Amino acid sequence: MHQIRFLFFIILTCTQVSFSQLRTVKELDINWKFQKGDFENAFQVDFNDSKWENISVPHDWAIYGPFDKDIDKQDVAIVQNGEKVATEKTGRTGALPHTGSAWYRNKFTLPNYENRKKVILLFEGAMSEPQIYLNGKKVGAWAYGYSYFYFDVSEFIKEGENTLAVKLTNKEFASRWYPGAGLYRKVSVIVKNKESINQWGTFITTPFINKDEAKVNIKTKASIKNGSLITTIFDADGNQISTDKTSIEFGNEFDQNIKVQNPRLWSPETPYLYKAVSQLFVGNDLKDEVSTRFGIRDIKYEANKGFSLNGEVTKFKGVCLHHDLGPLGTAINKAALRRQLTILKDMGCNAIRSSHNMPSFEQLELCDEMGFMFLAESFDEWAKPKVKNGYHRFFNDYAEKDIVNLVQATRNHPSIVMWSSGNEVPDQRGEAGVKRAKWLQDIFHREDPTRPVTVGMDQVKATMESGFGALLDVPGLNYRVHLYEEAYKKFPQGFILGSETASTVSSRGVYKFPVVQEKNKQYEDFQSSSYDLEACSWSNVPDEDFVLQDDKPWVIGEFVWTGFDYLGEPTPYDESWPSRSSYFGISDLAGLPKDRFYLYRSRWNKTDETLHILPHWNWEGREGEITPVFVYTNYDSAELFVNGKSMGIQKKNASTPQNRYRLMWMDVKYEPGNLKVVAFNAEGIPVAEKELKTAGKPYKIILDPDRKTLHADGKDLSYVTVSVVDKNGIPCPKATNQLKFKVTGHGKYRAACNGDATSLEMFHLPTMKLFSGKLVVLVQSTNESGTIELFVTGHGLKSGNLKLNSTD
Ligand code: GAL
Repeated sequence: MHQIRFLFFIILTCTQVSFSQLRTVKELDINWKFQKGDFENAFQVDFNDSKWENISVPHDWAIYGPFDKDIDKQDVAIVQNGEKVATEKTGRTGALPHTGSAWYRNKFTLPNYENRKKVILLFEGAMSEPQIYLNGKKVGAWAYGYSYFYFDVSEFIKEGENTLAVKLTNKEFASRWYPGAGLYRKVSVIVKNKESINQWGTFITTPFINKDEAKVNIKTKASIKNGSLITTIFDADGNQISTDKTSIEFGNEFDQNIKVQNPRLWSPETPYLYKAVSQLFVGNDLKDEVSTRFGIRDIKYEANKGFSLNGEVTKFKGVCLHHDLGPLGTAINKAALRRQLTILKDMGCNAIRSSHNMPSFEQLELCDEMGFMFLAESFDEWAKPKVKNGYHRFFNDYAEKDIVNLVQATRNHPSIVMWSSGNEVPDQRGEAGVKRAKWLQDIFHREDPTRPVTVGMDQVKATMESGFGALLDVPGLNYRVHLYEEAYKKFPQGFILGSETASTVSSRGVYKFPVVQEKNKQYEDFQSSSYDLEACSWSNVPDEDFVLQDDKPWVIGEFVWTGFDYLGEPTPYDESWPSRSSYFGISDLAGLPKDRFYLYRSRWNKTDETLHILPHWNWEGREGEITPVFVYTNYDSAELFVNGKSMGIQKKNASTPQNRYRLMWMDVKYEPGNLKVVAFNAEGIPVAEKELKTAGKPYKIILDPDRKTLHADGKDLSYVTVSVVDKNGIPCPKATNQLKFKVTGHGKYRAACNGDATSLEMFHLPTMKLFSGKLVVLVQSTNESGTIELFVTGHGLKSGNLKLNSTD
C-alpha cells in the first residue's frame, strides 16, 4: 500500500503542482506581474498591477539590457588585485541595469487547502534584500541574494485567491561581478499537515561502508508528538531494498540506522543514487511523506595522503563557476546547466566550486546524477568590506542563518564533499577574522559533522602568522603557486587545496604576435591572446598549477578560475569600455571551448584522445612571418607539417612547465595552405593526425545543435552552434558576419551569444555578429510538442536552416 501511494506521489511531482493527499508543492512559475521601480502600495491586495509586465519566474530583469557603461560604474582600487589607486571601473558588474528596486506580484490559489494545514513559502534565491508580503501583510524579509529561505505562512494564507508581493532592491557597489536581478530561482508554496516532517528536516549520512553492507543513518525532524516514522530505501531501479519503523523520538527528531546490502557506491564515474521515503504516522494515520535522494559514499581527508573517495586517493580536477548562464543571465535553467556539465564532463573535469555563493538546487541535482564532486561556497565577504555595499552589511545578523539554510537544504547531495565559508575575505587579516573563521566553521560542523570546511585564501602569509590557515579543516590557496611548499610546511593539516587556480585570460579564436608570456597584457581591441600565456599580476598560466598537481602528492587538486566566462569582471580590461564580461573562462560566455579547453582535456580526460592545433591558419598579411604553432594532446610527441614540409618533431619535456604540457613549434613561418600534426604513441608509432586549412571567403552558414529533441515543457533548450564555411566547406575562423535568426513551429528564439567580451549586442534580440567565426543560438521549446525550425540568414551568405523536435 505504501509503495502504491509513493508511486502516486512521484508521478505527480513531475508536474508543476504535485499532489498527494499529504503534501501539495505548487511552483509559482507563471502569472507573475513585474515592474521596475518603487511603489508604496504594491504590497496591497487591491493594488492595480494591470499595466505591469507579464513574466514567468525564474526571471532576471537586467539581462535584457541595454549595456551601459555608467551602470554601477565603480571608482575603486581593487585591493585584491594589488591596486593602490582608485580608477574608474566600467563593466565590473556587467554594465547591465540590475540596480534599483522592483516588484513582483502573483495571485494564486492553493488546491487542497484547508485552514488546518501548514503552509510554507519557499524562495530558492531572490536578488536581493527581498521584502515579502502575503495578502497585504508583511511575512518577512531576507538580505543575501544567494540564500535559500522560507517562511511558515500558515497564518497569512487563505482559501481562494492569495496575493503574494515581493520587493527586491539591488544597491550600487554591492558586487564584484554581475549578480543578476530578480526572482532568478524558483518560488514555491508547500501545503502539508500540521503534523509533518520539517522543511529540510531529513539528514542522511552513510557512516559505515564496506563491500557487503552500508549503514545509512537517517535523522528526521518532525512537528509531532507520539508519532512513528517508517523509512524505506529504494535502489535506482525503484526496488524496495530495506525499511525501518521507529516510534522513538529524541526531542523532535527520529534517528534510524538502516542496512543496505552490497551497496553501490556513488562516485563521479558511477553516480549511483538511492532514494529514502519517509512516512510519518500518528497511530495508523499517515500524516506526511517525503522522498530524499542520496548516495552511499565515503570521503576522507588525511595528512600526506590527501583526499580519498571510497578509499581511493582522488584529486579534484575542478573548475570554479559563477552563477550566471551567459546569455540567459542568472535566471536558472536546467537545460543550460546540463549543457555546461556535459561540456565539463567531456573535458574530464570531476568537480565544481560554486564561487562565491550558494549553488542552485538544480545544479546540485545534476551533479549528483552526472557525477561531479561539489565544493559549496557561501560568502565573498564577512564583516570587512570588499565593496561598499557588499555582504558585510548583513554579516552579523545573517551569516549563521545563511549557513544553516545552505547546509540543511543541500546536505543530502552526495556530490557535496566540502563546504567553503569564504573567498579571499579581507578578515584573513586581524584577530577578529580568526575568530570569525572558527565561528563559521563551527556552525558548518554543528549542522553537518561529515564534511570539512575550507576558505579560499589569498593572504597566505598573513594566515600563516595569525593561525587563520591552521584552524581550517582544508587550507585552500587561491593562486600563490610560489607559497604552496611553505604553506604545506607551516600549516598542520598535511595537505593543500588549490581552491582557485590559473586565472589565465584569453579570447576564443584570437591570437597575438609576438607570442610571449606576459602579465596584465592589454591590446587595442580589448581581447587577450589564445596562446594561453597571459595572466594577471596575481595569477598564472595553467602549466604552473599542473606541475604542483603532478609533483606534490599533498596537493589535493585544483579549481580553475573559471570553467566558463561570466558577466562582469572584465580583467585585464576593467578600465576599458566596451568590455563587460570575463576573459578567464576555459570556454567562452557562449560555452564554446577556447584552446585552453583542450589543454585541460589532454590532462584530465583519461579515456578519449585529445589532439588540438592552434592557432587557426588564416593569416593573410603574415606570409613569411613567425607564427608559432601549439598542439594540446594526451600524446607525448608529434610532428608538424606546413604544406607537407616537416617542421620537426616535438616531445614533451621538463625544461619548462610549458614544454612539459604542450608541444610547441616556435619558429614556424606562416604560408597559407595546410597545417597538419601527426601524433606518436610511446613507441614512436604514428597514431593520430589532425589538419587545419586556410579558408577562403565566407560562403555558407552551418548549424550544429547540441540536442535535436527537446522536452515540450516551455523551458528546454537546444544550443545551436552557428558557423560559416567557404565554398570548399572549410571553416572561416575570422568571420564576423552579422546574422539574423528566426524560429517557427513549436519553439521560440530565446537568445544568442558569440563570446565576444566587448560586444554590446543584446542577447535576446534576433541578430548578432559572428565572433571568430562562431556564435550560439538558443532555441527554446514551447508547451506543445511538434516540429521547430530555425532559420539563420546573413548578407551574401547561403542561409542555414535546421529542424528540431519537441516531445512530451
Ligand atoms: C580571485 C577572486 C575571484 C576573481 C579572480 C580573478 O582573486 O577570488 O573572485 O576575482 O580573482 O582572477
